Amino acid sequence: MNAPPPRLFLSPPHMSGRELDYVREAFASNYVAPAGPMLEAFEASLAAYTGIPHVVAVSSGTAAIHLALKALALTRGDEIWASTLTFIGSVGPAIQEGLVPVFLDADPQSWTMDTALLAEELRKAAKSGRLPKAVIPTDIYGQSCDLDRIVALCDEHGVPVICDSAEAMGARYKDRHAGEGGFATVFSFNGNKIITTSGGGALASRDAKVIEHARYLATQARAPVVHYEHSDVGFNYRMSNICAAIGLGQLEVLDQRVARRRRIFDLYRERLHDLPGLSFMPEAGYGRSTRWLTVILIDQTQFGASRETVRLQLEAVNIESRPVWKPMHMQPVFRQARHVGGKIAEELFEKGLCLPSGSQMSDDQIDRVAETIRGAARSARNG
Ligand SMILES: Cc1ncc(COP(=O)(O)O)c(C=O)c1O
Repeated sequence: MNAPPPRLFLSPPHMSGRELDYVREAFASNYVAPAGPMLEAFEASLAAYTGIPHVVAVSSGTAAIHLALKALALTRGDEIWASTLTFIGSVGPAIQEGLVPVFLDADPQSWTMDTALLAEELRKAAKSGRLPKAVIPTDIYGQSCDLDRIVALCDEHGVPVICDSAEAMGARYKDRHAGEGGFATVFSFNGNKIITTSGGGALASRDAKVIEHARYLATQARAPVVHYEHSDVGFNYRMSNICAAIGLGQLEVLDQRVARRRRIFDLYRERLHDLPGLSFMPEAGYGRSTRWLTVILIDQTQFGASRETVRLQLEAVNIESRPVWKPMHMQPVFRQARHVGGKIAEELFEKGLCLPSGSQMSDDQIDRVAETIRGAARSARNG
């Protein structure tokens, strides 16, 4: 029997080699701790790269969301509005804080929060005196939301915006980095992201006080005195100096990673664009996506096979692919939550498939994926 072809993963880590030099340096200095020079350098480099002046590096993107909510001093029962097309980490901390989520549908042109819907909903909420205490739009699959528009709408009503840019490190919005603006911005360096620290995240803000407070909460809310004194209860959320060392090496190659992911998207498009019923995630005119993941939509009536059939055929030849995020309002855990808008996110979930997009992929591997998808279309046509 032939051995199966090596597994092609969706988005595996891609090291440059420099990471190990920085990790060795961290070991040599014996800062094997959630403090140290690599951590400080990583935060400074993130600030320089994103143009967001104040940054705290933490153990995950989810932790960063939690700290942002804590900085707003919300109370149980307060509403927060979030993109329904997102990953659970975007809203999990809000639930743990006893906040009430409302989920807004996606815009078909960007797949991010529909700003017309947001405008209308804010107007209605202001009238009835039930404004949310925060809005959390998600930058999806490397594409920025229309942040200026969202912040302008929220500013009219004094509602802070926490931009979930966990998936958008390296992406551009207008002439700046994605997520820059609003109350605070969240990044993730989980193992599947465009750059990784193995696990990690960051909270960034233009406001030094927000980050100072987040740093305090992330280190057990310890008062700056020699004995352990606490006026608040915090978290143990700080990033390790070792993880930050990996991050420093990764940041150096981020622009190369973005370029390769965008190239991978173009190669898929060249190989698949002629198939009826198959289309690609659009790029919003206001920005530059990283194409963190290449996402296709499969319209079964024209393509012949369903998204799930294609996924299973890829799996049969050891290729990992994933449906688009299942919208939050469709999740069993959120069945009581209010959902605003139509069925855009639901349709994206039904038809969307994320293809292997790791920046280390070779052109031959892209051919292998594309050929399998073409094969699925052929067998559907031939019945
Ligand atoms: C949109 C979004 N928000 C939040 C997170 C949470 O980040 P982390 O996995 O680092 O906790 C992720 C990714 O994992 C994500 O994709």
